[in-house]
Amino acid sequence: MRRLTFAASAICMVLGFGSSTMAAGSADERTAESRAVIKAFAGELQAALKGAMQSGGPLEAIAVCNEKAPAIAARHGDAKTWEVGRTSLKYRNPGNAPDDWETSVLRSFEQRKGAGEDIKTMDFGEFVELDGKEVFRYMKAIPTGEVCLNCHGGDSVKPAVEARLAEFYPDDQARGYSIGDIRGAFSIAQPVE
Ligand code: HEC
Repeated sequence: MRRLTFAASAICMVLGFGSSTMAAGSADERTAESRAVIKAFAGELQAALKGAMQSGGPLEAIAVCNEKAPAIAARHGDAKTWEVGRTSLKYRNPGNAPDDWETSVLRSFEQRKGAGEDIKTMDFGEFVELDGKEVFRYMKAIPTGEVCLNCHGGDSVKPAVEARLAEFYPDDQARGYSIGDIRGAFSIAQPVE
C-alpha cells in the first residue's frame, strides 16, 4: 500500500512540476516552501561551519554540527510550526536516525543517483499520514563535498578529530564518505490543516 502511494505521488510530482496553477497548500506549493526553508537552513549552517573551520579547524567545528545544527534546524522549523532536521542511512547522531518513510526516500535517492540523476537538485515530497495526522513530508539530498571529508571521510579524518568524534558518538556510522556521495538529506514535515 505504502509503495503504491509512493509511486503514484512520485508520478504526480513529476507531472505537476513547473505547473503555473499552484493551489494553496498543494504539493507544488509546499515543495517550493520546503525548498526555500532548506535553502535558508543550509546557508546558515554552511556559514557557521565555514567560520568555525577557519577559526579553529575541524575540532572546533564539531561543536557547530553537534550544537548549532539542531538549534538552527529547530529555529527554521518553529518559525513555520514544521519539523525540520537532517537524517541519513548512515547517521552519526542516533537522534538523526531515519524513520520508515525517510529510509525509503533515502534508498530511492540512492537508486536515482545510480540512474545518473544529479544529487544537487534531488528531492521528493508527498502527503502521508504521520502519527495519525495528515502531513506533507519532503526531503532533499545533501551531497558530500570536500570540506565534509574532514569529519565524514575515511583516512582524511585526522586522529584528534576521530578521537573527539568517538567521544561524542561512540556508534558513529557517518564515516567513509567520498566526494559526490549522498551524505544524507534534509527532512521536513509540514502539518496539514
Ligand atoms: C567538523 C566536523 C564536521 C564537518 C566538517 C562536517 N560534519 Fe556533518 N556532522 C558532524 C557531526 C558532529 C554531526 C552530528 C551532529 C548531531 O549531533 O546532530 C554531523 C551530522 C551530519 C548530518 C546529520 C546526519 C547524521 O549523520 O547524524 C549530515 C546530513 C551531515 N553531517 C552532513 C555534512 C555535510 C554534507 C558536510 C560537508 C558540507 C558535513 N556534514 C561536514 C561533523 C561534521
